Amino acid sequence: MTDLINRQYYLAQRPASVPTSEDVPARDVPVAEPAEGMAVIKNMFISLDPAIRGWMGDDPNYIEPIAINDAVRSSVIGRVVKSNSPELAVGDAVMSLGAWEAYTTGPAVAMNKLDESAGLPLSNFLSVLGPTGLTAFFGILDVGKPKAGETVLVSAAAGAVGSVVGQIAKIKGCRVVGMAGSDDKCAWLKDDLGFDEVINYKTCGDYGDAIRKACPDGVDVYFDNVGGEILDAALLCLNKFARVAVCGWISTYNDADAPGPKNLWQLVAESVTIQGFVVIDYMDRFPEAIGQLAEWVMSGQIQFKEDIVDGLDNILPAFLKLFDGSNQGKLMVRIPEE
Ligand SMILES: NC(=O)c1ccc[n+]([C@@H]2O[C@H](COP(=O)([O-])OP(=O)(O)OC[C@H]3O[C@@H](n4cnc5c(N)ncnc54)[C@H](OP(=O)(O)O)[C@@H]3O)[C@@H](O)[C@H]2O)c1
Repeated sequence: MTDLINRQYYLAQRPASVPTSEDVPARDVPVAEPAEGMAVIKNMFISLDPAIRGWMGDDPNYIEPIAINDAVRSSVIGRVVKSNSPELAVGDAVMSLGAWEAYTTGPAVAMNKLDESAGLPLSNFLSVLGPTGLTAFFGILDVGKPKAGETVLVSAAAGAVGSVVGQIAKIKGCRVVGMAGSDDKCAWLKDDLGFDEVINYKTCGDYGDAIRKACPDGVDVYFDNVGGEILDAALLCLNKFARVAVCGWISTYNDADAPGPKNLWQLVAESVTIQGFVVIDYMDRFPEAIGQLAEWVMSGQIQFKEDIVDGLDNILPAFLKLFDGSNQGKLMVRIPEE
């Protein structure tokens, strides 16, 4: 046993709706000495992703549900404090599958050593150069297949994934329309990121009317981050041979009784392709995509925001920002390095 104590937030019961502190309480547990091949990292950044809400439930998913009594799973960035493997040395910065906890113990080979030589903030490896940037990259390019001159509609457009999707579509010569939940977010999309048109879905009234007005030539690619009524409205605005890239359905994650889409007949009416995807489908192409994203970031063609909340004990209220829209960009918790 080490002298380290691990504060963890764990799944005591599956949330019925928005997760509460009864669903996800804290506990302190000792950190064991790492067995052969294992390393212990002290977490510095914990990624907060909408998908975690899905893993808290027990519906079939692309990854096993979090088991009751397990710490809440998430991607983390940490620094090695103990290593029993030649793969990692104390002091190395790594990205790993971890949890809402101060220390993560795992197989060293499954921890991805980060290159700190370029001096990039480590948080960037969770945002634009990490899972969110990669989701945007493969989702819009491989699934959405945008062509120059086409109209691309993006929901949750000011979020971590959506904001990068829209900028990549602009780079590819598309007309880009973003939907977001506040005037400030809409202003950022239009004034700073160069979106052609924006819709504040909380104030626009009828979604279909707003989309048709913002997309007078119809929608060729709908990048769906939200599902629900916005998806239903977007389905009615699609052009012949349009593509719908289903990235996530955040509007439904806290509502087990959310109705499914009503307007799927449009897939037949307009010969539409609809495809869901998960970023890990593209793991073997991550290096290529990270290189391209880094180039666009350095040239200023892609801008991004990170919403960093300090303190592990703020993790549950921080997580809920994803669902009320109060996060501004890629959401994560930072645990200060001593
Ligand atoms: N397929 C994959 O591999 C993959 C990977 C990462 C993420 N995702 C999905 O991508 C989507 C965005 O994730 P993210 O990490 O980039 O989060 P994010 O967009 O940075 O944050 C979530 C945003 O969703 C919006 N939102 C929340 N509830 C909503 C509702 N009821 N209706 C409409 N919008 C709502 C809010 O923005 P507003 O202020 O605009 O409402 C909120 O800020 C999620 O659906 C997530 O599950 C998928």
